[in-house]
Amino acid sequence: MSPRPTNDHHRSDAAAGRETQATSRRFARIAGTGSHLPPDRVTNQDLVERLARDGIDTSDDWIVERTGIRARHYVQRGVTSSQLGVLAARQALDAAGCTAQDIDLIICATSTPDMVFPSTACLIQRALGVHGCAAFDVQAVCSGFIYALTVADSMIRTGAARRALVIGAEVFSRLLDFSDRTTCVLFGDGAGAVVLEASDQPGVVASRLHADSRHVDILNVPGQIAYGEIVGSPLLKMEGQAVFKLAVSVLDQCAHEVLSLAGREPQSIDWLIPHQANLRIMFGTARKLHLPLDKVIVTVDQHGNTSAASIPLALDEGVRSGRIQRGHSLMLEGVGGGFTWGAVLVDY
Ligand code: UT7
Repeated sequence: MSPRPTNDHHRSDAAAGRETQATSRRFARIAGTGSHLPPDRVTNQDLVERLARDGIDTSDDWIVERTGIRARHYVQRGVTSSQLGVLAARQALDAAGCTAQDIDLIICATSTPDMVFPSTACLIQRALGVHGCAAFDVQAVCSGFIYALTVADSMIRTGAARRALVIGAEVFSRLLDFSDRTTCVLFGDGAGAVVLEASDQPGVVASRLHADSRHVDILNVPGQIAYGEIVGSPLLKMEGQAVFKLAVSVLDQCAHEVLSLAGREPQSIDWLIPHQANLRIMFGTARKLHLPLDKVIVTVDQHGNTSAASIPLALDEGVRSGRIQRGHSLMLEGVGGGFTWGAVLVDY
């Protein structure tokens, strides 16, 4: 007989429900953050030399000037998103002062799942050695962490969960077409995570998610596994300029939407933590919000674009460097394939 799923540490749903009724104002706050980058750091110059061997011409100057990227990390072949995700999750649990036994929800944002199924979140649950809590993936490409955080916040506020692990984990290097210089220099691998827990204080103050599927074709990996083979291309394709233009317009708009929901002004933001794709997009968004550029957490220079992992990686970097302090107001913003975008305002 297969073992019955258990939630050993967790209270019953009824207990969670009673707590919701008793708590008139229930919020979700970030209790801890964590991240992990694979050890293989690849500089622009490393990439220039690697691509030159295949006759592909690029330069450190072009990459830095057009994107701000100086280096990225790649996994060794065979290393998966769940392996990166679990290392980030363990750090976040330590930072929150809790263990995997205390978690009753795991959401993993990824476009590079280990398998078609089960979900990467389930594989992370197994690696953490816990059983019974809800676990599922969210697929919104580079907006994935913003989507996952918003779902976890909603579940905590309704009493469906009490303490969640929200993870962004990606192995984008496995999707790259190294004969296409317009995309292969941009992306990297990594993972970031937060522990989000119920609290009587915010926490997540406001959030907004969007998608516009008219733009499916400007950024995608169209391949699929079917009938025992790969059908279509398994490599990333992007119309860079079209994505750039959309990103610049929606990020500013969405930040204003979330500020308006919260009844706050842009000047109240202590740190802007946008998706790390291109420094020009990130600084452009800050300028439109009239924020000084030193209020932007920047990791794209060292990580490249790690898709759903980029925001929690940047958040963790900001926390561990001591710049992000308790009480600070954070604007997290994602944008990516779908086309998807969204923002979450957090009082840290
Ligand atoms: O994560 C999801 C969100 N993604 C993004 O936000 C990415 C958005 N897009 C971008 O960041 C930028 O559009 C790119 C960085 C991808 C490209 O920058 P760009 O300034 O839009 O360049 P471009 O595509 O207009 O290309 C300009 C020139 C072209 O040469 P010609 O036609 O002017 O002779 C390209 O062939 O730069 C050339 N080029 C390169 N040259 C050297 C493109 N890639 C490279 C390269 N090295 N790697």
